[in-house]
Amino acid sequence: MTSLPTAASATAGPGGTANAAPGAAPAGGGAGYAASTGLAAARVPGRHAPWGEAEARAIIAGFDGVPGALLPILHALQEHFGCVPELAKPLIAHALNLSRAEVHGVVTFYHDYRAEPAGRHVLKLCRAEACQSVGGTALHRDVLSKLGLDWGGTTPDGRLTVEAVYCLGLCATAPAALLDGAPIGRLDAARLDGVIAGAMAP
Ligand code: FES
Repeated sequence: MTSLPTAASATAGPGGTANAAPGAAPAGGGAGYAASTGLAAARVPGRHAPWGEAEARAIIAGFDGVPGALLPILHALQEHFGCVPELAKPLIAHALNLSRAEVHGVVTFYHDYRAEPAGRHVLKLCRAEACQSVGGTALHRDVLSKLGLDWGGTTPDGRLTVEAVYCLGLCATAPAALLDGAPIGRLDAARLDGVIAGAMAP
C-alpha cells in the first residue's frame, strides 16, 4: 500500500482540523425535539458496529493501492465503529507498512478521531475568545457540572457527548455551539438547558 502522509501534507486532508466548521442544518431528527429546543431538527448519529477484526481487515483491504490511504482508512473505520479502535492500529500499520507509533501519531494528531464512540448526540461548545468574552466560560462550567462530565465526556446513558471547539466562525452570535453539526448561537443558561434536555430525551 501507499506511504504515510506527513502531518503537513495531511493537514488539508479528510481528517480536518480540531475546529469543526459550522455545518449546514442536518436533515432528520425528531420533530418533538426540534420543537422543544427551537432548533432546526438535528441529525442523530447512527449506531455503530462493535469491534470486529474481520470487518476492520475488510475496510482496510478496501483501500489497497489507494494513494494516501491512511486518512481514508481512519475515516472509514470511524464511520463503521464510531471510533478508531486501538486494535485496528496494528492492522493498519501492517497494511501500510508503517509502525504502530506512526499510525497512533496520526490518529492523535487529529482531534476528530475518537478513541471511543461518541454519544447519540454531540454538543460542541466553543471555548475561543469571543465566546469566552460573553460568558461562555461560566456557561460551560455550569453545564459540565450539571452533567457530571469533563470535556470529551459522554453521559452514562450514552445520549450526549460534550466536546470543546475553538471558534466555529459564529463569533457574532457568541456564545456559540454545534449540536450534531447544527449551529446554535446566543446561548444562555436557559437555552443551553433546553438544548441538552432535548438531546437527553428518549
Ligand atoms: S469564538 Fe466562538 S464562534 Fe468564534
